[in-house]
Amino acid sequence: MTQLQSVAWADGAVLVLDQRLLPQQEVVNRYTTVADVAESIRSMQVRGAPAIGCTAAYGMALVATHASAQQSHELLPALAAARTQLDASRPTAVNLFWATRRMYEYAVAQQHLPIAEFRVSMQREAQAIFDEDLAMCQAIGRHGEPLIPARGRVLTHCNAGGLATAGYGTALGPIYRAHETGRAVHVYVDETRPYLQGARLTAFELQRAGVPLTLITDNMAAYFMGQGLIDCIIVGADRIAANGDVANKIGTYGLAVLAHAHGIPMYVAAPTSTIDMRISDGRMIPIEERSSDEVTMIGGRRIAPEGVTAAHPAFDVTPARLINGIICERGVILPPYTTALADLMQK
Ligand code: MRU
Repeated sequence: MTQLQSVAWADGAVLVLDQRLLPQQEVVNRYTTVADVAESIRSMQVRGAPAIGCTAAYGMALVATHASAQQSHELLPALAAARTQLDASRPTAVNLFWATRRMYEYAVAQQHLPIAEFRVSMQREAQAIFDEDLAMCQAIGRHGEPLIPARGRVLTHCNAGGLATAGYGTALGPIYRAHETGRAVHVYVDETRPYLQGARLTAFELQRAGVPLTLITDNMAAYFMGQGLIDCIIVGADRIAANGDVANKIGTYGLAVLAHAHGIPMYVAAPTSTIDMRISDGRMIPIEERSSDEVTMIGGRRIAPEGVTAAHPAFDVTPARLINGIICERGVILPPYTTALADLMQK
């Protein structure tokens, strides 16, 4: 496992880089049960929509590898139970449900195989999900890079980079591509209260890659836009509804309103596995409510008075009308999204 790889399969186990400890410590945990894998997603050791999907796929492969059975079809009940357990870990990122469904449907289709072959084929399918995600991120980088204006000053929110995916990233893909091809690029990184994915993770991986960055607190975004210092915004997505409404990290909607007010283009970068055609608009996307403690405390230290509770919706929904384009592995999707997404997903 390379140092900054979020998740990997190795010798019948799932390796998870514990992102809760970054950037101070790089610790890789090794899991051999689906319960531990589900817990690693729930507790945000691994986070980011595509990385959660890859981890869940490996979790399904774990069950196929280790559960006892004489014949392949006997594993289907255990795989169905694993799917339920993994699906219960976090509610908003659709890549999780997409990956467990793909793994389960693959298992059903392959149940005629001899058990040893079945176990290996499930590992291969999980690895295919990971490899495809990496390839999709690289394609997003190629399609999105030309959207970055010449001065190259991009604002991003949360972490939609290599740590949130199989590698390279969605929102950070076009930025990495611009940097690799020698273009001037400078990233304004929102710290992303309350969980600080921007300060802890995006700043960390951009710095490692040598991409120039400035860390800002979330409430500085309007100031920098007003100063004319932001040329475009690129964020990731946890779920995109059929009409183009986008659920992403809490604060994304506010950025989109600000971008609109300043005439700054706002792009969303996500693979097609993040598009949920079963949901007609953003109001139907389940929004995870996380612990109040993550707001009242920072780094284990309480900052709000004892007895105060805080609200903590972890995501918000940006209406499609505030999004200038959705960058996916097949190209850039432009409004009107209802027809554009239907065409894209039919192909
Ligand atoms: O709560 P998190 O850290 O899992 O939230 C992550 C995000 O909101 C990302 O922007 C999104 O998953 C896209 S990751 C490529």
